[in-house]
Amino acid sequence: MYPSRAWSYGLRIAAWFCWSSLLIGAKNSIAGNPITSPVEVTALRAIRKSLIDPNNNLSNWDRGDPCTSKWTGVICHNDILEDGYLRVDGLQLMRMNLSGNLSPELGRLLNMTILDFMWNKISGSIPKEIGNIKSLKLLLLNGNQLTGPLPEELGYLPKLNRIQIDENNISGPIPTSFQYLNLTMHFHMNNNSISGQIPPQLSRLPNLVHL
Ligand SMILES: *[C@@H]1O[C@H](CO)[C@@H](O)[C@H](O)[C@H]1NC(C)=O
Ligand SMILES: *[C@@H]1O[C@H](CO)[C@@H](O)[C@H](O)[C@H]1NC(C)=O
Ligand SMILES: *[C@@H]1O[C@H](CO)[C@@H](O)[C@H](O)[C@H]1NC(C)=O
Ligand SMILES: *[C@@H]1O[C@H](CO)[C@@H](O)[C@H](O)[C@H]1NC(C)=O
Ligand SMILES: *[C@@H]1O[C@H](CO)[C@@H](O)[C@H](O)[C@H]1NC(C)=O
Ligand SMILES: *[C@@H]1O[C@H](CO)[C@@H](O)[C@H](O)[C@H]1NC(C)=O
Repeated sequence: MYPSRAWSYGLRIAAWFCWSSLLIGAKNSIAGNPITSPVEVTALRAIRKSLIDPNNNLSNWDRGDPCTSKWTGVICHNDILEDGYLRVDGLQLMRMNLSGNLSPELGRLLNMTILDFMWNKISGSIPKEIGNIKSLKLLLLNGNQLTGPLPEELGYLPKLNRIQIDENNISGPIPTSFQYLNLTMHFHMNNNSISGQIPPQLSRLPNLVHL
């Protein structure tokens, strides 16, 4: 009697473990395949909503999962993070005739290395939230109709290698925080309305190749 009761407890515990691990698994994956972080999915939807997409190049952004259904222009990291979710590695949306604005929600894609909106017709200002993306290496916004100042926050991107904002209508001074961009090799800023002095500290940037 007693051993069989222990057996049934054992079974019940084993069943509970199976069920709960299925639940945890189901939260971060579909049929065992990982899915994109819900925070990032929400951010991508907001990013699309603030754009105007005349060619419908982003029409698959309302179907399935960004990483596993391969949304146009969304590049994902191959490896999952500790929480079991996939993360966006980059947005490559060049030459799609996009207009509209850049959403501040871009600043929620915290593991991005590439942000590329080159040669579109995007207007409005550069969201300061891009300064949250500490992993960002390439910030490519050249050839749009961006206005407003360069956010101070862009100076605190420790991995930034290249910033291209040329061929826009950006105004105001170069933030002095740009002196901290000590991995940045290329600053392309021509054909804008940038005013004021180039901060003298920029001449001390160790890796600067092109300003
Ligand atoms: C965007 O859509 C247009 C029209 O369908 C197509 O010609 C073009 O190749 C697309 N561009 C990209 C980068 O997908
Ligand atoms: C972008 O729009 C312009 C003018 O609206 C048009 O001439 C051009 O063909 C478009 N390019 C693409 C790739 O759709
Ligand atoms: C992703 O970004 C977060 C926030 O910046 C950071 O803590 C984490 O280490 C990053 N993970 C990877 C794998 O890049
Ligand atoms: C750029 O901005 C300036 C001042 O804000 C304005 O006078 C000029 O017309 C703008 N140029 C373009 C090409 O939009
Ligand atoms: C870049 O700047 C950070 C902080 O300002 C500093 O810790 C780091 O050593 C610098 N790297 C180089 C290569 O100068
Ligand atoms: C950018 O500036 C250069 C030099 O002034 C000029 O030749 C070129 O036409 C400009 N391009 C645009 C798109 O305004």
